[in-house]
Amino acid sequence: MSQDPLVIALPKGRILGEALPIIRAAGIDPEPAFSDESSRKLLFATNHPHISLIRVRSFDVATFVAFGGAQLGIAGNDVLVEFDYSEIYAPLDLGIGKCRLSLAQPKDLADGLDLGRLSHVRIATKYPHTTSRWFADRGIQAECVKLNGAMELAPVLGLCPRIVDLVSTGNTLKANGLIEVDTLAQITSRLIVNRTALKVRPKEISGWIDKFCSATEGP
Ligand code: PRP
Repeated sequence: MSQDPLVIALPKGRILGEALPIIRAAGIDPEPAFSDESSRKLLFATNHPHISLIRVRSFDVATFVAFGGAQLGIAGNDVLVEFDYSEIYAPLDLGIGKCRLSLAQPKDLADGLDLGRLSHVRIATKYPHTTSRWFADRGIQAECVKLNGAMELAPVLGLCPRIVDLVSTGNTLKANGLIEVDTLAQITSRLIVNRTALKVRPKEISGWIDKFCSATEGP
């Protein structure tokens, strides 16, 4: 089996807590610094001398895997659909990071809930491609204002009346006076693989896909 370096890209933030038990069940133990949020390290060793982990923003997981900087990764289908990288193969739904990509707006918005009457909307989102496509399918032109976080502030501060963002508990929307109007997609996190790595190192990479598969099936 190849002992070439193998890099696995993992998303920072709340999914990491759900991903780590799967990583461990697949037989990969990160060095202690990996779980230390205050560590400034970016590349972490594991119990396998040739396997390293990186901890990056969720959108960057897909970019690292698509461009071959990492061979494997964990990414939500929100990120995969937004980028649609041809180099990424997503063989396994890990069933973690469950949430939804939703359209939300203030409940007293003047032009109301009936989107069918609109030909143009302005939306604050981290997902301009997914959002534009979803509205285009409904005959509505969406002008997307790209934000990287704290989308819920946009309607509050008059930037855009509507947002498209991830919703999990709904607490962030509620705390900012917003309501969900529609769901663009149900989201879970997937194991993702660089297609070239799979082609060049088929036995090794398939072996890891199988291990992740068993790790999600439980005892
Ligand atoms: C996500 C998302 C919402 C929030 C929704 O943000 O963008 O703001 O979680 O979760 P809730 O429905 O459980 O309240 P995250 O905390 O990941 O940070 P971000 O704003 O930097 O994306």
